Amino acid sequence: MVLTHSTSELSGFLAETRAAVDRVIDRWCRRLLVEEDSRVTRAMVYALTSPGKRLRPALAVASHRAVGGSGAAFELAAAVEVIHCYSLVHDDLPCMDDDDLRRGRPTAHRAFDVATATEAGYRMIALAGRVLAEGARALKLDSGRLKEMALELFRAAGGRGMIGGQVLDLEAEGREVGLEEILAIDRAKTGALIAASAVIGAIAGGAGQRKLSAIRAYGEALGLAFQIADDLLDITGTAAELGKAAGKDRDRKKATFATAMSVEEARARARHYAEEAVAHLRRADVDCTLLAPLAQFVVERRS
Ligand code: IPE
Ligand code: IPE
Ligand code: MG
Ligand code: MG
Ligand code: MG
Repeated sequence: MVLTHSTSELSGFLAETRAAVDRVIDRWCRRLLVEEDSRVTRAMVYALTSPGKRLRPALAVASHRAVGGSGAAFELAAAVEVIHCYSLVHDDLPCMDDDDLRRGRPTAHRAFDVATATEAGYRMIALAGRVLAEGARALKLDSGRLKEMALELFRAAGGRGMIGGQVLDLEAEGREVGLEEILAIDRAKTGALIAASAVIGAIAGGAGQRKLSAIRAYGEALGLAFQIADDLLDITGTAAELGKAAGKDRDRKKATFATAMSVEEARARARHYAEEAVAHLRRADVDCTLLAPLAQFVVERRS
């Protein structure tokens, strides 16, 4: 199967979601500053309000709609973005990827300092729990559903998910790494949170087991496609396009698909995972109206 959607169909949805999620995040930032106007809360606000694609919340909202969910899932979706923003703050720290530029601005530890950025990141994990609870309340979901979503989010963020993947990523720097190991790194550091974003939206939308499993499989395959695309952009993009340094993965001898094989082979793999993602949905009769073009966007994006 070949993906043939026009990404322009999707752009309205992405713009709508980004604006709505930004409003939720702005509201939380105002609340944070009222609760405590300090250097560390200002660093949190800095990281949360910097201009990102807001792709993970878009995924949550799209899968919510794909399973027939009604009501505004933007706050719930914002919880996933809070975890993502924290992951970027820590990913950029000198002890991790040591980056100076993020989303077109100085990284949080450059705009503030390492200790403040580190603490801001940790506090954002706790904040994500509050945003998730508020998001569930906004949709009038019962406590059982909130518990399921919280388990998804914090498992994906944890030692067997994003954090674990980040550790594997650092540990693999500079040594010979096989494709299976690169897959394991990418599944954990990026795939877990992307899959959780889709699954949380689907849980909120009341998906049954069959559709939920398909959406999880979609998210996992999409996460791989996403990270390969990110790795390719590190090679083919510029800092001006990406809003972050380019060419860093080769310098740091990172284990990525794009450095382990040719750019063309890596691109083909990214497309393969995006197609596989959508195939999971079709097999379970999940509405692909938004989720299929989203998969295509993930591999075709230029930033
Ligand atoms: C970058 O994610 C980090 C990775 C997992 C590769 P995004 O490309 O979604 O970054 P933003 O949120 O748009 O800045
Ligand atoms: C980051 O992967 C994955 C995260 C969990 C944040 P990268 O290190 O490749 O992300 P960028 O390229 O810095 O955005
Ligand atoms: Mg990294
Ligand atoms: Mg990085
Ligand atoms: Mg990268």
